[in-house]
Amino acid sequence: MFDSLKPQPADKILALMSAYKADPRTDKIDLGVGVYKDASGNTPVMRAVKEAERRILADQTTKAYTGLAGDPAYADAMIDLILAGSVPRARVAAVATPGGTGAIRQALELIKLASPDATAWLSNPTWPNHPSIINYLGMKSATYRYFDEATRGVDFAGLMEDLAEVAEGDVVLLHGCCHNPTGANPTPEQWDDIVELLKAKGAMPFVDIAYQGFGDGLAADAAATRLIAGAFDEVLIAASCSKNFGIYRERTGLLMAIGRDDEQVAQAQATLAFLNRQNYSFPPDHGARIVTTILTDPALRADWEAELEETRLGMLSLRQQLADELRQQSNSDRFDFLANHRGMFSRLGTSPEKVEVLRSEHGIYMVGDSRMNIAGLNAQTVPLLAKAIIAAGI
Ligand code: LMR
Repeated sequence: MFDSLKPQPADKILALMSAYKADPRTDKIDLGVGVYKDASGNTPVMRAVKEAERRILADQTTKAYTGLAGDPAYADAMIDLILAGSVPRARVAAVATPGGTGAIRQALELIKLASPDATAWLSNPTWPNHPSIINYLGMKSATYRYFDEATRGVDFAGLMEDLAEVAEGDVVLLHGCCHNPTGANPTPEQWDDIVELLKAKGAMPFVDIAYQGFGDGLAADAAATRLIAGAFDEVLIAASCSKNFGIYRERTGLLMAIGRDDEQVAQAQATLAFLNRQNYSFPPDHGARIVTTILTDPALRADWEAELEETRLGMLSLRQQLADELRQQSNSDRFDFLANHRGMFSRLGTSPEKVEVLRSEHGIYMVGDSRMNIAGLNAQTVPLLAKAIIAAGI
């Protein structure tokens, strides 16, 4: 049977991770996979996470199953963190999932069950696993323009023109903040216009929020998601705790389905629990318990927020440093956009060939579409990257 298996397309982010590991150069720079790194290149366990784990280890008396939807306290804490009362709690069905990817997968399966012919609209570009899962599930998809290659900002006119083609009942996938891979994000006014357009079209928003707290702060990064949650009868929201709690390998996510009324919410909740049962039964608990412990303890929460804020400000200052360095080395302001991007990533806006030159000649690894993980830099490597960018003729 296994002889008939065919090679599957490689995930370009994960392939890059392996190529970086295999590179023997000691001065190589990893700007690939979206994992936060501090100035010494480590991905630390956050202080509040360590303390929460210590408490869990000391106090946990059982490892018996939770529920199919996960621990309800986790859903409550996360819904409060992300939605902050923008929609009544009773309108939100939610299940814990293995990471943000698990939430996306479950959301797409729910869409497929409810409306198999709906088209899912994706920003062009988007995180490559979005189209990959959609194709795997055999669902219809379309893309909307997103990135302006000239300004390296959002192509808002193009986006609005393309989303005007959305049909009633279609699903529009939006990055709640810190767009992956570009780092370019709509302004609050542009979000208002997007919401108005999607409402007029009768489309359903599906928000992927994986970097809350990495852009402009915890509340500001959730503003678009909250706006959307309060504006539509039906919304899907896939959230990840991988980055903002730094618990990547614990696989901690949440899928929320906002419904119009009690009946819809109950049906969505039952369907999500069913989908969990079909795919992996009970969702992982350890990461969810860490998150709940932190979010429900005022002192731990304050410490987590403080460390997350340090992380965010550190990335912002690296952005500024890189933009300044490139301004100096290029004698132009053409890289100023880097300081305006938000989140972990920026799309440099160059060809795959030049990205390959950066890799082969300078040991600098970024995704082929020229997405850089800003957190992979430090004060010493910023000038090296700037020099390599100029030397490569970017
Ligand atoms: C990324 O975009 O690099 C991260 O979300 C990690 C991943 O799974 O691709």
